[in-house]
Amino acid sequence: MTKEYERICESLQSIREITNFQPTVGLVLGSGLGDFANQIQVEQIIDYHQIKHFPISTVDSHKGRYIFGRIGDVKLVCMQGRVHYYEGYQMKDVVLPIRLMGMLGVKKLLLTNAAGGINKSFQAGDFMMITGHIPTFIPNPLIGQNIQELGVRFPGMDQVYHDGIQNCIRNGAQKNKIPLQEGKYVQLTGPSFETPEEIEFLRIIGADAVGMSTVCEAIAAVHMGIEVGGISCISNMASGMNQNPLSAQDVDQTTTRVKADFEKLIKQTILEME
Ligand code: HPA
Repeated sequence: MTKEYERICESLQSIREITNFQPTVGLVLGSGLGDFANQIQVEQIIDYHQIKHFPISTVDSHKGRYIFGRIGDVKLVCMQGRVHYYEGYQMKDVVLPIRLMGMLGVKKLLLTNAAGGINKSFQAGDFMMITGHIPTFIPNPLIGQNIQELGVRFPGMDQVYHDGIQNCIRNGAQKNKIPLQEGKYVQLTGPSFETPEEIEFLRIIGADAVGMSTVCEAIAAVHMGIEVGGISCISNMASGMNQNPLSAQDVDQTTTRVKADFEKLIKQTILEME
């Protein structure tokens, strides 16, 4: 057993001392999107501070807790607030919460984020279903001694975003008449926003949206055999695509504006994932 696996088991034990709840679906709520948690029929809330070895988020809009409960008949665990690489953690710590979800029994994972739109046909406020991702610009979270208990040394990444979950997201959008874009997401480390030159480059290599999360989490989940889906809220058009310089306030304003639709989309998608 590796040291890292021992550590994960200790974190898991802190959770299991508090709840026996067995979620099958995991949900990660991105920046400004945390209010969806109000829709959950709550069984148990566990603050990240209560979990041994858990990296604690420093971003204001991220509350930092696991919420265990139900949406309809679906038993889920939701992360209200995630951990970002730019906070200074190692990648293995950034993905610890995802690995814990897998060890708690999660088979399907829905990742959400706020992202900058690179595709010129997008607008701020659009939702983009992630169909693929570009991990090239971040350290791979699987670097280091492989944790055999979680997955193989060289996992395939032919299809990170599971077809079945993509269909759940499409149905979730259709049933609520919410327009849905589709595209490829690229994760950069942040925390500075991109330069216009970087955005031009990312467009050339095929990215439709850019952000500072999600890809590393998806990799860790696929390593464990978890089915993954992803939705980006295009909170702003990326650097250089607007007259005004980009700021974090733009992100918050847009996520607040589209909150009602986001919550409908996520709720229906989770019901479809049962
Ligand atoms: N760039 C990177 N991350 C982001 C952005 C962006 O434009 N918007 C929201 N998260």
